[in-house]
Order: sequence, then structure tokens, then C-alpha cells
Amino acid sequence: MLYSILLPVHSIVRWLVVIAVVAAVVRAFSGWFGKKAFTALDNKIGLAFTSLMDLQLLIGLILYVISPILQTAFQDFGGAMSNTQLRFFAVEHILMMVIAVVLAHVGRALSKKASTDLLKHRRAAIWFGLALLVMLLSIPWPFSPVSRPWIRF
Ligand code: HEM
Repeated sequence: MLYSILLPVHSIVRWLVVIAVVAAVVRAFSGWFGKKAFTALDNKIGLAFTSLMDLQLLIGLILYVISPILQTAFQDFGGAMSNTQLRFFAVEHILMMVIAVVLAHVGRALSKKASTDLLKHRRAAIWFGLALLVMLLSIPWPFSPVSRPWIRF
């Protein structure tokens, strides 16, 4: 029951996270190279991105406990490592996404602390850019080796 709600929510929130991080990265790079002021909107987009990441992390952690895929994996964890799909969700997806969440938070904290607008943009651009990269590589896209639909309702 909870699973049939949280799986589509995790699928949909993925798009909100992707939209937020792309917006944050585009604004950070254009602010950095265009030497623009760091505005309240830049701050809000960074906050939206990290908050959505936290939400997705929370949903992901619950899925990690209740998903039938993970229950199968935990019955024989060693054996699951030789199954591409089980290994992906049991190890690769969670590990990479936790790294992406950390990159997002470090980026936001360092950007907030920076003393100049240029430095704020530069730190956001680099750290959020890395988070975007890690995330794009770890989302199970329809064309990925472990594939999932573009969106699930
Ligand atoms: C933070 C960024 C994350 C993004 C963008 C993301 C994205 C996705 C997507 C698109 C799917 C496929 C959903 C579907 O089948 O329609 C998925 C599945 C899954 N994710 Fe994440 N995820 C993230 C973080 C996490 C984290 C941190 C965990 C674990 C703690 C996690 C656990 C899972 C699990 C267990 C599944 C498979 C559920 C199942 O098919 O039974 N996710 N994720």
C-alpha cells in the first residue's frame, strides 16, 4: 500500500529535483561567468534544490526498507551482488544518491558562507554541477542498464 504510493512519488519527485538542480546550475554558471549579483532568487532555488533532495532521500530510505526488490536482495545479499538489478538498487543507487545529497548540501553551505557574490556563484556552480552529474548517472532511466519508466503515476 505505502509502496504503491511512494514508488510513483519517488518517480515524480525525481523530475522536481532535476528541474531544480538544472535551474540552480544554469543560474550559478551564468552568475559566475556573467559576474552577476547573487540574488534572493538564487538563494531560493538553492534552498528548493537541497530541500527536494532531502525529501527524495527520505522517500528513498523508506523504499529501501519496503521495496520487494530490496527484500529479495537482503535474503541473499552476497548472491544479489551478481544480479545487475538487485546490486543497482541495494548498493549503487543508494550510495551514489547519498553522495549527491552530500554534494548538494556542501555546495549550499559553502555558497552561503562565501564572502563575495562571485564566490557564491562559483561554489554553487561546481558543487551543484557535481551533484547533477552524479544524479544523472545514477537515475534508472528507460535507456539505463537497469531501466525504469520516464514517469510513474
Ligand atoms: C536523491 C535523488 C534520487 C533520485 C533522483 C532517485 C530516483 C529514482 C528513480 C527515478 C527510481 C525509479 C522509480 C520507478 O521505478 O519508477 C528510483 C528507484 C528507487 N530508489 Fe531512488 N532516487 C534518489 C535517491 C534515492 C535514495 C537516497 C535511496 C535510498 C536510500 C533510493 C532508493 C530507491 C529504491 C529502493 C528504488 C527502487 C524501488 C523499487 O523499484 O522497488 N533512492 N529512484
